[in-house]
Amino acid sequence: AKPDLAPTPPMGWNSWNTFACDINESLIRDTADAMVSSGMAAAGYKYVNIDDCWMAPQRDGNGRLQADPVRFPSGIKAIADYVHARGLKLGIYSSAGSHTCQGLPASLGHETADAQSWASWGVDLLKYDNCGEQNGIPATTRYKTMADALQATGRPILYSICEWGQNQPWLWGANAGGHMWRTTGDIANNWSSVMSLLDQQVGLEQYSGPNAWNDPDMLEVGNSGLTYAESRAHMSLWSIMNSPLVAGNDIRSMPASTRDLLTDPDVVAVNQDWAGRQGAKLRDDGDIEVWSKKLSDGSAAVVLFNRSPNVATIGTTASALGLPASSAYTVKELWSNAVRSSTGNVRAQVGAHDAAMFRVTPGAAADVAPMIVVEAVPTKA
Ligand code: DGJ
Repeated sequence: AKPDLAPTPPMGWNSWNTFACDINESLIRDTADAMVSSGMAAAGYKYVNIDDCWMAPQRDGNGRLQADPVRFPSGIKAIADYVHARGLKLGIYSSAGSHTCQGLPASLGHETADAQSWASWGVDLLKYDNCGEQNGIPATTRYKTMADALQATGRPILYSICEWGQNQPWLWGANAGGHMWRTTGDIANNWSSVMSLLDQQVGLEQYSGPNAWNDPDMLEVGNSGLTYAESRAHMSLWSIMNSPLVAGNDIRSMPASTRDLLTDPDVVAVNQDWAGRQGAKLRDDGDIEVWSKKLSDGSAAVVLFNRSPNVATIGTTASALGLPASSAYTVKELWSNAVRSSTGNVRAQVGAHDAAMFRVTPGAAADVAPMIVVEAVPTKA
């Protein structure tokens, strides 16, 4: 049976968004160190994932995948040991075809041998891509065959299906052994890509749940193509959608402002809370959107999202969020940590391409002054 490795959305880091094929073992070791020293690990980020380009151009004499001798001269087992010694987990990558997207040997027809190699090296996660010759074998079969091979190793390995949403993997990914599945093509380091992926998530909420997460792709938070506000909006939205949180920036050198976006405990708590349904878009007024998610303690998370190039005042109410009637609500803005009491309005001034994110709990906060309108979140450049 599928191992219970993702009761909540998986959290980690992946090499692809920033480094593509420019990877090597010292990058992975230094990233593992930075995961701990930056506070990412303590915030819940556990997987250090090596994406495409780790493997040598040829299989070895026994038909086994081998690590690229220049990029990973110590081999993958040594990296896994290094990562494990820091309390983290190691992820690796292959493709359900003849070759990876970068033309390296991949796993179609080699599922058993490759799964055994990864298990013997101590790998904890497989991201399984969709490139290479597929010999007319349907995706459902190609992905299920690898899940069976992973499970047959006896090692618990989280299975991340990277089929780009081409054959509606939300319909079959869980039964094919996947803990998560990409719903779309690749994210890119720019705002329009983030928006396009966001829009493609609407309607998929019902397919998401424990050990079966919709994956709108890895984060671009902190990367050069997004402003600080855009990164904050991206993090807010991926969190409320129960997306796997897989950082795609260079965490060895990230500024504190980026670290704070990735590790905010209240925001991560919203992402990790399963109350029966992925967060969803509640209201769409063109450039103004309200996203919400019921939380298991009876509160609700809200993202007030401004896609426009101008500042906007955005509001919703406790009743629109489906919260029970109450004379007062405690409203916490999760990025600024401002806490207010409200009779039911949740409102903020939100900057261009920015988001405010709240937790709204029925009942007054005992120790804060009553206010009807929530203050604007502080805007940062
Ligand atoms: C396509 C995937 O969707 C990306 O996330 C990345 O893994 C690349 N392939 C690597 O070639």
